[in-house]
Amino acid sequence: MHYQEALALLKAYHQEHILRFWRELSETEKAHLLGQIAQIDFDNLEKLIALTAKKDESAPAEMTEAPVIRLEERISRDEKMRQTGAEALARGEVAVFLVAGGQGSRLGFEGPKGIFPVTPVKNKSLFQLHAEKIRARATRYGCVIPWYIMTSQSNHDDTIRFFRENRFFGLNPTDVMFFRQEMLPSVDAKGKLILAEKHALFMSPNGHGGSLKALWDSGAVADMKRRGIKYMFYFQVDNVLTKIGDPEFIGYHIDAGAEMSNKVVHKAYPEEKMGVICKIGDRLGVVEYSDMSDEQMHATTEGGALKYWAGSIAIHIINVSFLERENDHGFRLPYHVAHKQIPYVDERGNRVTPVEKNGFKFETFVFDALQHTERILSLEVERAEEFSALKNGSGVDSPATARRDLNLLYARWLEQAGIGVPRDEQGLPAGNIEISPLFADEAEALLLNKERIPSVTYPYYLE
Ligand code: UTP
Repeated sequence: MHYQEALALLKAYHQEHILRFWRELSETEKAHLLGQIAQIDFDNLEKLIALTAKKDESAPAEMTEAPVIRLEERISRDEKMRQTGAEALARGEVAVFLVAGGQGSRLGFEGPKGIFPVTPVKNKSLFQLHAEKIRARATRYGCVIPWYIMTSQSNHDDTIRFFRENRFFGLNPTDVMFFRQEMLPSVDAKGKLILAEKHALFMSPNGHGGSLKALWDSGAVADMKRRGIKYMFYFQVDNVLTKIGDPEFIGYHIDAGAEMSNKVVHKAYPEEKMGVICKIGDRLGVVEYSDMSDEQMHATTEGGALKYWAGSIAIHIINVSFLERENDHGFRLPYHVAHKQIPYVDERGNRVTPVEKNGFKFETFVFDALQHTERILSLEVERAEEFSALKNGSGVDSPATARRDLNLLYARWLEQAGIGVPRDEQGLPAGNIEISPLFADEAEALLLNKERIPSVTYPYYLE
């Protein structure tokens, strides 16, 4: 794109102010700005700007409870479902997909969140922990489990470098594919694009919902089809307890004939910041906690139980055929608007860090796709077994809680195998424990290796 071309385009959409500092820019800076302008879909931008003018449509009108397969119900069915899922894995029909394009701003860690060292004894990174789980699963079922990883502009190169430096943690590099999600520009209260630098627009990733588009645009869906993949296991980078490629979950999904499934846990308390699975009108979907009214948040059933208890933990199975349908007439997830403080350069070229919210970011949410499916399946799981997310630098959902929850998980596995675990007065393991997924990736696998397990002295590591 040339300057004249960009100017004409920007004028047509009343955004020419972003060329204000053109004469001051170096050749590289000019190229950078033109590159960003070329990336923007201005018709879509107009629609996004229109969204910022709408009044906040908070609580959805009709919210009712959604059917969920409860823990009690699972007891008699799990074994059969595991068999069904295991067969699909063994046939090579399952791929795993990690969304790792987020900015991880709450954690306050330089670099991709997946690089964060998290395991209790060996300090393995999130990426390594996930990679070893995938290797373990593939070995068990004698199959290839391709791994698709979505990054974003800001962490793509660092992510790939980390995998290369670590030789893909033993995975075959041809079975690991990286691609970037799209970035969207932000606008101010008047609907004007925001300059973060004289030569750069303020852009942010288009939300995890952007993954459905990026999977398509990058050729990942085509690659899955070539490999005969039917089911894609979707997970987030920061949940250290994710049972990646869980055969039981896959089995329930197949058995229900679902197009997209999700795992839920019982909310710990009504105000817990989790989206809940429910019926919205006549469709099943997830409503974000921020979109629920106080009344909805605390609503109870006749028996006094929490009505909207089913918190989504962002683990899904999505059919490859559904991914195709979701894209073949253009991307159709709705955009959500977030009012934020966005640093900018003012008309004189001074950098400003605002104290008030001054602009809007746009995002899509993957769970909105649930409303486009013909059939979904929701499965309740135990929080202690499957959900502990690394979000904050300290306090709740922090490195300390992630390590604690891993320690507790491994301690339970060992105890189930009949190995004593010394605990402190609070009931926590008295030291750090870690079991490599390559030794055992679930309690059952540990039972099989029972005779190879030494007694516990801290720090305790099994590989
Ligand atoms: P979060 O909503 O927790 O966001 O993402 P985050 O960026 O990791 O952290 P904060 O809010 O800035 O502190 C949940 C999952 O969705 C991915 C993240 O990488 C994480 O795995 N994600 C989020 C994307 O891949 N792209 C996005 O645009 C947003």
